[in-house]
Amino acid sequence: MPVITTIDDFKPIYRRRVPKMFYDYAESGSWTEQTFRENTSDFDKIRLRQRVAVDMEGRTTESTMIGEPVAMPVALAPVGLTGMQHADGEIKAARAAEKFGVPFTLSTMSICSIEDVATHTSKPFWFQLYVMRDEEYVAALIQRAKDAGCSAMVLTLDLQILGQRHKDLKNGLTAPPKLTPATMLDLATKWRWGMEMLQTKRRKFGNIVGHAKGVTDASSLSSWTAEQFDPQLDWAKVAKLKEQWGGKLILKGILDADDARKAAEIGADAIVVSNHGGRQLDGALSSIRVLPSIVDAVGDKVEIHLDSGIRSGQDVLKALALGAKGTYIGRAFTYGLGAMGQRGVTTALEIIHRELDTTMALCGRKDVKTLDRDVLLVPKDFEGDWA
Ligand SMILES: Cc1cc2nc3c(=O)[nH]c(=O)nc-3n(C[C@H](O)[C@H](O)[C@H](O)COP(=O)(O)O)c2cc1C
Repeated sequence: MPVITTIDDFKPIYRRRVPKMFYDYAESGSWTEQTFRENTSDFDKIRLRQRVAVDMEGRTTESTMIGEPVAMPVALAPVGLTGMQHADGEIKAARAAEKFGVPFTLSTMSICSIEDVATHTSKPFWFQLYVMRDEEYVAALIQRAKDAGCSAMVLTLDLQILGQRHKDLKNGLTAPPKLTPATMLDLATKWRWGMEMLQTKRRKFGNIVGHAKGVTDASSLSSWTAEQFDPQLDWAKVAKLKEQWGGKLILKGILDADDARKAAEIGADAIVVSNHGGRQLDGALSSIRVLPSIVDAVGDKVEIHLDSGIRSGQDVLKALALGAKGTYIGRAFTYGLGAMGQRGVTTALEIIHRELDTTMALCGRKDVKTLDRDVLLVPKDFEGDWA
């Protein structure tokens, strides 16, 4: 087994282990993938201020996200089909997060159901909601999340229509994979994945199949989304859903200061500055680039989180220093899970933690909660002069 020292080290192992359609599903953005690429390359443009002769004993990465204590302000983002990256993937990722002391967010489009994850974990997790046309089904999903003891609802606002990802269409993405000559050829080299999948009963969308009326086959993500997701979702509906849920609410997919103001007005507990990992509106700016404008607009009114492009603890530090109170990783833990199961997720968290801690020390800081712009060197034109 190779020595894993960075998040990127997982990728070749992940690629060897997991069927191509699921690797491609994670490792792609929409259309030209410009936003997907810039999510990571924009982090690289920000540099760090090295400070010396500062006592670095007694450092801490502990903080809070929406009032919940976290070992470091890095949550696992909702990732659909996680249970196709590794058998029982959601349960394994949730357990790794729980042991590490960071929040786990379960996607509506998960393979393991809300109840299943609750049964196999002991701390409350967060539930991510996609809003469907069928209001009864949405109400039932919200009730199920309440019954399972979820401590926050993450309402995703940037995917009422699916951004086109070419590879998913070309691969004929389904869960579980449909057996065609191409998938069978691919699966022949992914026998370990196949053996593990055969040993679990969790192979379909666990929150949907058997729950949504008349749905026996939701295997195709693209046709399910097109038919079921509510294209009429607006701020009035968001306010209604907030009331229905009644608990902590995180609004995900905010990329514009005007939308951030609306989210704050509605009384969200937090917003996630996010472009869905570059999977939705290709051509949108990277999350890290728009973060300062959103912090300026609502930083004193609502807690700000960020995702999209985080691959290291240094990226986490940059987001925190620019004003985010918390961050999420999507692909970074998915690579680990696909490569090595639960141990891979734990290793991914350990890598990011170590990078965050060491970087903090070398920047002359001891407490993650005190990070500010002073630790960064940000190019003058970083945010861009857009008209
Ligand atoms: C494979 C994959 C599936 C995703 N599925 C969901 C989902 O079901 N719900 C959701 O709100 N976001 C989903 N996202 C977006 C993530 O929650 C998060 O915004 C994104 O992964 C952050 O970017 P990163 O992967 O660069 O960390 C998904 C992302 C990926 C990569």
